[in-house]
Formats: sequence, C-alpha cells, structure tokens
Amino acid sequence: KQPLTITKLKKMKQSGEPISVLTAYDYPSAKLAEEAGIDVILVGDSLGNVVLGYDTTIPVTLDDMVYHSRAVARGAQNTFIVTDLPFMTYRLGSETTLRNAARLLQEGYAHAIKMEGGADIAEEVAACVRAGIPVMGHIGLTPQSVHQLGGYKVQGKLPKEAQQLIDDAKALEAAGAFAIVLELVTEQLAEAISEALTIPTIGIGAGRGCDGQVLVYHDILQYASPYREKRFVKTYADLGTTVRNAIGKYVADVKSRAFPQQEHVFLSEQEPLKHLYG
Ligand code: KIV
Ligand code: NA
Repeated sequence: KQPLTITKLKKMKQSGEPISVLTAYDYPSAKLAEEAGIDVILVGDSLGNVVLGYDTTIPVTLDDMVYHSRAVARGAQNTFIVTDLPFMTYRLGSETTLRNAARLLQEGYAHAIKMEGGADIAEEVAACVRAGIPVMGHIGLTPQSVHQLGGYKVQGKLPKEAQQLIDDAKALEAAGAFAIVLELVTEQLAEAISEALTIPTIGIGAGRGCDGQVLVYHDILQYASPYREKRFVKTYADLGTTVRNAIGKYVADVKSRAFPQQEHVFLSEQEPLKHLYG
C-alpha cells in the first residue's frame, strides 16, 4: 500500500469520501494507526500536551517535532504524514519558514507541514508550496495563540469573526494549501467554509459538514490525556484504565514473588555454580 497523495485527498473531497486523520507521536502509535487504516497521520504539536506534559503547545520546539516525526515515519511507512511547525518557527519571514519546514521533510520524513494562521501567513504558505513543500492550513481555535485568544473557546460565533475565517480559508486556498484544519468553530461556519473551497477541510470540534475529521490519539483512547472537558471528542477505548490496572498487577506480582515463574527463567546445565566464585 502506498501513502495517499495530496491529489488523492482533493479527489476524496470531490467524490464525497470522508478523510480520516488521527495524530500519532511515536513508533507504536503510528504503527497501530496505519494498521487500522487511517488516511493521514498528523504529528501534531499537541504532543506538547499529551506526550510531554506541558500546559500549552507553546514550549514545543522544532527539534521535538523532528524527533517525533522520525519515529512516526518509522512506524507508518505507507501513510501520508503531516507534521506541525511549532510556535514561532514560522511568521518570521519566508526564509526561516522554508528552512524549518525543510527540516520536517528532510530529517522528520514528513510529506507535508501544517501551520496555524490565515491570510496573515499566506505569503509563507505560498513560499513553501513554490519550494515543493505541501502545506495544510489551520484556522479557528489555534492553540499556539491561546493567550491572545483568551482560552480554548469556540471561534467564529460573531458574523464579523465568521467572515474573517472565511476570508482566511480562501487566502490559504489561494496560497496553495492542499487542505485546512478547522478547529472549534460552529458547524454552520465549517459547512460554509467547506462549500466555499475546492480543497478539503478537516474538522476538530467543527461538526458534520467538514470533508474529514481529526482527533488526538490520547483523547480517543483515554490514554492519560490531560483532563479538559472536550465535547467534540468521542472515546473509543479506555487505555488509561487498562494500562494502570495491568501495571498494578505487575507491581503486585513482583511484591508477592508471583513473578517470575519457572517458565520465565533460564537454568544452567550444571548446578550449583558456587565453585565458580569459590
Ligand atoms: O496538534 C494537533 O494535534 C493539531 C490537531 C488537533 C489539528 O493541530
Ligand atoms: Na497542532
């Protein structure tokens, strides 16, 4: 099986086939997502929250993204991989953006990059596309701007804000983005944006009118994801409970000497070996 291409993703929108996207951050998560048939893996800077334990994505570095992207690429060799440019590794001019985006492809083995922003980053998006680096946009709730936005809240509720988001989506499409993440916007707005564009929209907390959906690995699996009430997440397994219980049993077995048993040990031919050390 070959990874999807940006051409195929645009065709999926045209034919009405929903695009499934999930984040992954390391070899096992990527391997399992690929084996389960995911269309696209996103190495999100949400790894700052769910893997590294930060409160926001702001402390995440480009080195962090390269390191995790490489691990994902080793685990999912046949899946299209998009990796986030983290906070302030773009917006400093196209040259810096290009240099940083190139590292995600050359060292992180990503196929494409994602940046948060709209018309304000259109020039940098266009520069990447000209250089052969596919770009996924990301508008609505943009977590790298959480302090400026005043928290994690639904965006585009007011008509003026909604118009700005539509303009941003169109600017990203015009700049050559191959898809756009819509995060935490109303269903009506996401639907309007999806209809206005020829490139696919990938929603998270953006309702049923998007061309695809993305969620965070640790959220859908309840895998020690930091607690924050998320109406838009659907839980598909409770790995946190499974893993905690399993480790608890291991600890109890070691304490009670129930582990290891004979089947877990290696025996010498001749015993005892006391003569070896006098
Ligand atoms: O970092 C991330 O996981 C993301 C998705 C939630 C879209 O940007
Ligand atoms: Na992100």
